[in-house]
Amino acid sequence: MLDMNPEDIKGEYTEHNLTLYEDICRKVFTTELESPFPKGYLIVSRTDTNGIITHANDSFVEMSGYEKSELIGQPHNILRHPDMPAAAFKDLWDTLNRREKWRGYVKNLRKDGGFYWVYAIVIPNIRNGEVEGFTSVRREPSRKKIDECIKLYAEMSQTK
Ligand SMILES: Cc1cc2nc3c(=O)[nH]c(=O)nc-3n(C[C@H](O)[C@H](O)[C@H](O)COP(=O)(O)O)c2cc1C
Repeated sequence: MLDMNPEDIKGEYTEHNLTLYEDICRKVFTTELESPFPKGYLIVSRTDTNGIITHANDSFVEMSGYEKSELIGQPHNILRHPDMPAAAFKDLWDTLNRREKWRGYVKNLRKDGGFYWVYAIVIPNIRNGEVEGFTSVRREPSRKKIDECIKLYAEMSQTK
């Protein structure tokens, strides 16, 4: 996946070398600008079995800051924020591989370097006994849960 482009970033930013797929390095830029989750929105995406985005609804496009055409065909880790501990996504994939539903709080990275928090549910799409892909639906998280996760994820990132 391509590095982020500093020209897309709005405001002062910090540079990080993020490890994806446990061994690929991506340069990302983060700012402190939070986009609050708009009331009543549902952010929906679907992926194939490898986590490549196959569908993105309008709320997803708007909140991520990307064009729809920039999202479709990309791996979902295009939104991976360096503040998210790798263990959270290991738990996500372990759960999906057991064909179970995963729920959790995720801090996502926007194209412009800003971020937004979501409460996400991810489910395997099973047809005729085969997993065809995954669907994720996100809604507004409570501020209390976000504050708990900020602390928890910082601790998890230190002890990984
Ligand atoms: C349906 C679905 C939705 C996902 N949504 C997100 C997301 O919003 N943000 C995110 O960082 N990872 C999301 N992931 C997890 C990514 O695929 C990936 O595991 C994660 O970003 C960590 O990157 P890595 O596995 O390359 O280390 C999603 C995965 C699936 C299957």
